[in-house]
Amino acid sequence: MIDDYQAWRAAKLGAIPALDDLLVRLADPGNPTQAERSALLERCRRFNMAVYCGPDRPLDKAELRALAAALGLVSLDPNQLADDDGISALAVREHGSGARFIPYTNRPIAWHTDGYYNPPDRTVRGLILHCLRPALRGGVNALYDPDRLYIALRDRDPEWTAALERPDAFTIPAQAEPGLEPRPPQPSPVFTWDEDGHLAMRYTARTRSIAWSADPAVQRAKAALEAILAGDPPGRLDHRLEAGQGLICNNVLHTRTGFEDDPAKPRLIWRARYYERVGTNGERKAL
Ligand SMILES: [Fe+2]
Repeated sequence: MIDDYQAWRAAKLGAIPALDDLLVRLADPGNPTQAERSALLERCRRFNMAVYCGPDRPLDKAELRALAAALGLVSLDPNQLADDDGISALAVREHGSGARFIPYTNRPIAWHTDGYYNPPDRTVRGLILHCLRPALRGGVNALYDPDRLYIALRDRDPEWTAALERPDAFTIPAQAEPGLEPRPPQPSPVFTWDEDGHLAMRYTARTRSIAWSADPAVQRAKAALEAILAGDPPGRLDHRLEAGQGLICNNVLHTRTGFEDDPAKPRLIWRARYYERVGTNGERKAL
């Protein structure tokens, strides 16, 4: 839990991000300067996210890992569908593993945080999306800081945030699909405060493969949460990552619009999920 909620709330509400506030230019993403690194960290401290613009040349995965490490992101969450090393190549897959999973299609993706189905010891706190090739049309992300959502809910009714902090606010059903690692049912809170006073959020607007608690308080809170997200809340940003750009964030809420590919140059995004938050290294929250 956070020491001084009111001070934290006031600082967050006083800093509504515009896209320009998030942008940081990187001359050589695999080897950021101290000033570039500080600029990324400062944005992630204030807004939980930053967007970098690198040169329009293909980055290699070693450069992406070096950029992440410079920001304290080192523990990659292995993905059962990742092509090799925990950095997933998101592109439309017509066949084979992943073809039936929505990130590997061109369909729109509703609000979620990444890894909402992970067990607690594998909570995804840091996330990088790096664009190698944008779609011909579409593929826009909406971005929203979960801290702002928490504040909006708690301002209206503290019972809502309390309900969403319950350890069984929702449950991910047992997984028994062939070819995937079996797992037992996984109850989970939506909001958790870590010991350093940072908030993490697990959420998906999807209704398949998630069972929300039937408790009336949780149901009211979930409806309120969804109404806020549907209402274009202040601080929501829409951005399409272009080639050489990337989002570095503390696993903020995001969506993706559907897209249309140029078959000769299909959309390609690298996604890296980390157990660490960006650059916090355990220090207490300071805005
Ligand atoms: Fe995602």
